[in-house]
Amino acid sequence: MKMMWIRTLSVLAVVSPFFCLMMLAACSTLNSEPRTDPEPVAPSQVSDFGTLYAQNCAGCHGAEGRGGASFALANPVYLAIVDETTMHNIVANGVRGTSMPAFVQGAGGMLTEQQVEAITSGIVSRWGHKQVIDGANPPSYAAKAAGNADHGQLAFRTYCASCHGSEGRGTPKGSAITNDSFLALVSDQGLRTIVIAGRPELGAPDWRGNVPRQPMTDQEITDVVAWLVSRRAQNPGQPYSAMSEAQHSEK
Ligand code: HEC
Ligand code: HEC
Repeated sequence: MKMMWIRTLSVLAVVSPFFCLMMLAACSTLNSEPRTDPEPVAPSQVSDFGTLYAQNCAGCHGAEGRGGASFALANPVYLAIVDETTMHNIVANGVRGTSMPAFVQGAGGMLTEQQVEAITSGIVSRWGHKQVIDGANPPSYAAKAAGNADHGQLAFRTYCASCHGSEGRGTPKGSAITNDSFLALVSDQGLRTIVIAGRPELGAPDWRGNVPRQPMTDQEITDVVAWLVSRRAQNPGQPYSAMSEAQHSEK
């Protein structure tokens, strides 16, 4: 009995390394066999523009950037005036006081810096074409000077009232844009962006198209935005405004 045990053990001791090797070989052949299902990719490893855009942005900015609850990102005028670093920072950190979320992990989002980069450079390379503003002397993306709300009111009558009404309360050709519910949720830059780039997907003209052959000057744009912002500040009873929210939460 005792002998038998020793025999069995010694046989096992000799055989088992081979046995193990065989198992390993079997396992590795299994692994290298072609698989029908693609390996699941960790969310932070997704680098394909189409997937990243569809999963994170399309819900508000529309499939293929054509617009939805928020404006179309596939707006070549917009993409010609904004620089890529600015866009990257907006996507990374969001716009305070509006529904535009922060996407980068360091700011509470779910994406890596590389993914934010893949999205912004993809938007510019796919949907931008700078020639749209050739020879147009475009206004600067950000305001260069302080706006004058009184001048802005005059500019509004000239350039905007035909569609939005003289007080901005809306007409059949353009919606109300001086009411609480609109102004409370849009940033000052958001207003400027729309005035410059329009919302072509909804028939809103860019800064050149409000009055035929009379593009708005940079200062007129700044002033119109100042007037709209002054309407926001004067509207009583609104819960908060994008502007004051941004100031309060500034570190
Ligand atoms: C929940 C809705 C929502 C989602 C999701 C969203 N956005 Fe936005 N986004 C907005 C709103 C609203 C604004 C306008 C904010 C303002 O008033 O300035 C905005 C503004 C922007 C702007 C700035 C425009 C400017 O004035 O220069 C960029 C760029 C942008 N979004 C890109 C993206 C990208 C890229 C994604 C996906 C990674 C995304 N957004 C996801 C709602 C959203
Ligand atoms: C030819 C008509 C027309 C003119 C002129 C015009 N707009 Fe518009 N605007 C529109 C349309 C159409 C829309 C998109 C649909 C809507 O909101 O009514 C729009 C949208 C907007 C929006 C966004 C509203 C939203 O809900 O997202 C703002 C802000 C705006 N216009 C401001 C202006 C300002 C400021 C001017 C003058 C500098 C101006 N518009 C001139 C037709 C016009």
